[in-house]
Amino acid sequence: MSEEVSFLLNGQPVRISGQPATRTLLDWLREDRGLTGTKEGCNEGDCGACTIILTDARGSRAVNGCILFLPQLNGKAVRTVEGISGPGGEMHPVQAAMVEHHGSQCGFCTPGIVASLAAAHSNGETAFDDVLAGNLCRCTGYAPIIRAAEAAAAEPVPAWMQTDREAVAALGASPLPFAPTSADDLAIWYAETPDATLIAGATDVGLWVTKALRDLAPVAFLGGCEDLKTISEDASGMHVGAMVSLTELHAAIAPRHPSFAEMLRRFASTQVRNAATIGGNIANGSPIGDAPPALIALGAQLHLRKGDTRRTIPLESFFLDYGKQDRAPGEFVEGITIPDQPDRLRCYKLSKRFDQDISAVCGCLSITVENGTVTEAKLAYGGMAGIPKRASNAEAALVGQSWTEDTVRTAMAAYAADFTPLTDMRASAEYRLETAANMLLRYFHEDQGVATNVLEVSA
Ligand SMILES: Cc1cc2nc3c(=O)[nH]c(=O)nc-3n(C[C@H](O)[C@H](O)[C@H](O)COP(=O)(O)OP(=O)(O)OC[C@H]3O[C@@H](n4cnc5c(N)ncnc54)[C@H](O)[C@@H]3O)c2cc1C
Ligand code: FES
Ligand code: FES
Repeated sequence: MSEEVSFLLNGQPVRISGQPATRTLLDWLREDRGLTGTKEGCNEGDCGACTIILTDARGSRAVNGCILFLPQLNGKAVRTVEGISGPGGEMHPVQAAMVEHHGSQCGFCTPGIVASLAAAHSNGETAFDDVLAGNLCRCTGYAPIIRAAEAAAAEPVPAWMQTDREAVAALGASPLPFAPTSADDLAIWYAETPDATLIAGATDVGLWVTKALRDLAPVAFLGGCEDLKTISEDASGMHVGAMVSLTELHAAIAPRHPSFAEMLRRFASTQVRNAATIGGNIANGSPIGDAPPALIALGAQLHLRKGDTRRTIPLESFFLDYGKQDRAPGEFVEGITIPDQPDRLRCYKLSKRFDQDISAVCGCLSITVENGTVTEAKLAYGGMAGIPKRASNAEAALVGQSWTEDTVRTAMAAYAADFTPLTDMRASAEYRLETAANMLLRYFHEDQGVATNVLEVSA
């Protein structure tokens, strides 16, 4: 194995050695390569000024360079704003349209916006509000930028933007010593190195470096474990590998549980979802992670592995206390199974901003009603306790009762026995308790066919 990280940068092969494993692409581009087109705004994945295009065998996607470590690029292709224009300086259709439609004033956000739009242009994506949810522009405003995106969508993808996928296949990058290439490799290494930091998408871990300035050594990058990136189905349900990105999960879950998919559409931003994994969203043990409440409401099982020993537990029992999970040293998340079931799930993500915001409360509810009687209720919440947690008293007040507003209001009164939420910058304890209970009422009304979403109400 080689210590050398090899990738394509704007079409040209580069090999880097002697860099710290947690050096970010953004720092390297700007400090070592003088490629200062890619900007640093927040350095924590929020503003999109550092957006670049990453290409591998799975395709091209926009990601944030500020929370992307150099080893994560091994065997891939990076295109910065300098390489989005053609080899002879020709403008990419997105760049030409940004000029034409006055899509830039101060221009600080512009390279990131161009990178996001060029990635979408290559993939034929036209949901521009979603594409740009992770790109903050403070002075132009989005209308001219969206007009530019719409105009560019009619133009063909330039030839120079179509070469990276084939070129990475020919790159011949060697595996890195701290980047296992299968779950088996990872299991052996991690059992022997249990104090290591596992790095999946680095959308949490990246901030430990850029903001907390932590030294994470030893580390292992999981991006080469292709067998942890699979989604398959059998009679027991859908099996999702820990390294499946939230973008891929979104696509797989949308036909089965559209409300879950709609919540994932608002999970962070396109760039973050393209990097972030489902394993990371579970293993970080966050009380405000968005996927765990939805998965708990769906009765998901969690697959853990240490060496050759595997165990499966209900996902909800993984979260023991704030900052404490049922995971032994050297044990890692291998995947989850979502049981096949009729879709009764509704997910309500409550945050101060619609896009790119951490939830104040995330309620995911699945209630089964047979012949007018509630037979099963799973009401799972994030943001209401130190862990993702079910409202068990409210559930008990529903099950066996007729599915009526009276029953729902009785169950709503039980939330006070289920949760003692905190007051913090996102929401007060009282607001959290009230809105969590109101989500049950909303579920009931939606189930009766009432439009409750302001985005669905028309005058
Ligand atoms: C701008 C921004 C917005 C965000 N918005 C949201 C949001 O709306 N909702 C939300 O829920 N989260 C949000 N997040 C948090 C983050 O994106 C998610 O938690 C994400 O799913 C983490 O996945 P990752 O692959 O990047 O994990 P990493 O950062 O790589 O790892 C996270 C933790 O999990 C561990 N880990 C990773 N994989 C495994 C594994 N297979 N087994 C054991 N341990 C493992 C790591 O060691 C680390 O402790 C946001 C983050 C950013 C930067
Ligand atoms: S610098 Fe803001 S997202 Fe990277
Ligand atoms: S052009 Fe100034 S922030 Fe977007």
